[in-house]
Amino acid sequence: VVLVVDFGAQYAQLIARRVREARVYSEIVPSTMPVAEMLAKNPRAIILSGGPSSVYAEGAPSLDRALFEAGVPVFGMCYGFQLMATTLGGTVDDNGAREYGRTALAVSKTGSTLFEGTPAEQPVWMSHGDACSAAPEGFTVTASTDVVPVAAFENDEKKLYGVQYHPEVLHSTHGQQVLEHFLYRGAGIEPNWTTTNVVEEQIAAIRAQVGDKRAICGLSGGVDSAVAAALVQKAIGSQLTCVYVDHGLMRKGETEQVEKDFVAATGAKLKVVDAEKRFLDALAGVSDPEQKRKIIGREFIRVFEQAQLEILQEDGPEVAFLVQGTLYPDVVESGGGTGTANIKSHHNVGGLPDDIEFELVEPLRQLFKDEVRMVGQELGLPDEIVQRQPFPGPGLGIRIVGDVTKERLDLLREADAIAREELTAAGLDRDIWQCPVVLLADVRSVGVQGDGRTYGHPIVLRPVSSEDAMTADWSRLPYETLAKISTRITNEVADVNRVVLDVTSKPPGTIEWE
Ligand code: XMP
Repeated sequence: VVLVVDFGAQYAQLIARRVREARVYSEIVPSTMPVAEMLAKNPRAIILSGGPSSVYAEGAPSLDRALFEAGVPVFGMCYGFQLMATTLGGTVDDNGAREYGRTALAVSKTGSTLFEGTPAEQPVWMSHGDACSAAPEGFTVTASTDVVPVAAFENDEKKLYGVQYHPEVLHSTHGQQVLEHFLYRGAGIEPNWTTTNVVEEQIAAIRAQVGDKRAICGLSGGVDSAVAAALVQKAIGSQLTCVYVDHGLMRKGETEQVEKDFVAATGAKLKVVDAEKRFLDALAGVSDPEQKRKIIGREFIRVFEQAQLEILQEDGPEVAFLVQGTLYPDVVESGGGTGTANIKSHHNVGGLPDDIEFELVEPLRQLFKDEVRMVGQELGLPDEIVQRQPFPGPGLGIRIVGDVTKERLDLLREADAIAREELTAAGLDRDIWQCPVVLLADVRSVGVQGDGRTYGHPIVLRPVSSEDAMTADWSRLPYETLAKISTRITNEVADVNRVVLDVTSKPPGTIEWE
């Protein structure tokens, strides 16, 4: 494993992904983890991420010198670079030498491990106030910029390397190459982490965990649960029963997709529970988002328990496991990375209640979304499932601002189907991360349709682009497409007389409205 030490900026996840793109397995650890604990993980290399602080700021995260003396190759980036410099006796000054954004890096190549085969001058992405003016003893300076005399240094003997810029961002055009040079040449790691390995490893792990007991898996129609289920199905075959709870909060056509496409691709045993009435009864009159999430989560588990009872009555071993499609960003965001399941309520199927009776199987806990899709492909799932945009577990229940009724759900389902249809027709599916369609059921506005006054509800379109849903920007969709969606929704969906576009990034707005 390669450890990425997170100094508190948004870069650590990106670095971890880039390392995996180099086909080397990586994990993120917090900078507060004691060095002994990091070393106990037997890392093949350690990468120090960037961070928001100045190394001289009060309370700035620091690092035990022992990290550099353990014989493990280390690569410092930005803040990690400066920390490495100051810890090992180099000089970093707050001399006003600020650089933000695209900068020209001058590389002195002779004997450089990091820059071998890259241009003498290359664009890199900088974001720093302080600058390193002298490298620690034993280090060779291998790059500089107009304002920073020491923009990269290397110590081949001790296998310590650092760059002032952010090699992990795309604007640093040779960043991936430099990172790979560190991993392969500096640290001597073989690039052999692939989705095939992941599948094999996980299948073995699932078999070991589940033994000869049985497991159930809730299918939501989404990529994560489908891939998790397909993996477990491959590992334990008929010991797995998939349960699809039709809570009535699904989008148009989704139930059919699970019932037909998923089963056809995996051969999994599927039990469909029609629980629409139960969910709608439980949600009646509730408009508070958190309360909705809790209710949906609670009912979900209750329905599972019911399904479990029914499955238990069939002949067979104990049903002791629940499969969940928890992803790595959820684990990192909840402060995990190590430790046990503690995912915030938000990202589960609505939040698990305390009295859960199953042990969790989470075969995607180590993976990023794009890796999950690759695993899905490897397992032979159809594109309609693998390439699907994310859809929250609580479904359309959290896309109705106001209380949830069957009538409102039907209306939103129509509007959502139109938006999806038009986005697909315009070839925009790959350009956007997802496009929530939200019904403002508590809002009415005046309109005119035909010759009459209307007093209907607005529909919000929330198309976003994102790499991982942790941050997002609103998508600049072509006006033509927006116009088409708007015209069709207001014409075809009763009670909707206005379509509005959400032009908020995340932060400050979350992707979903609730
Ligand atoms: P937010 O709204 O927090 O959403 O910006 C980030 C991503 O997570 C999805 N999401 C959920 N997914 N259960 C899920 O499985 C949930 O309760 C849930 N809430 C939000 C959301 O669609 C977006 O992709």
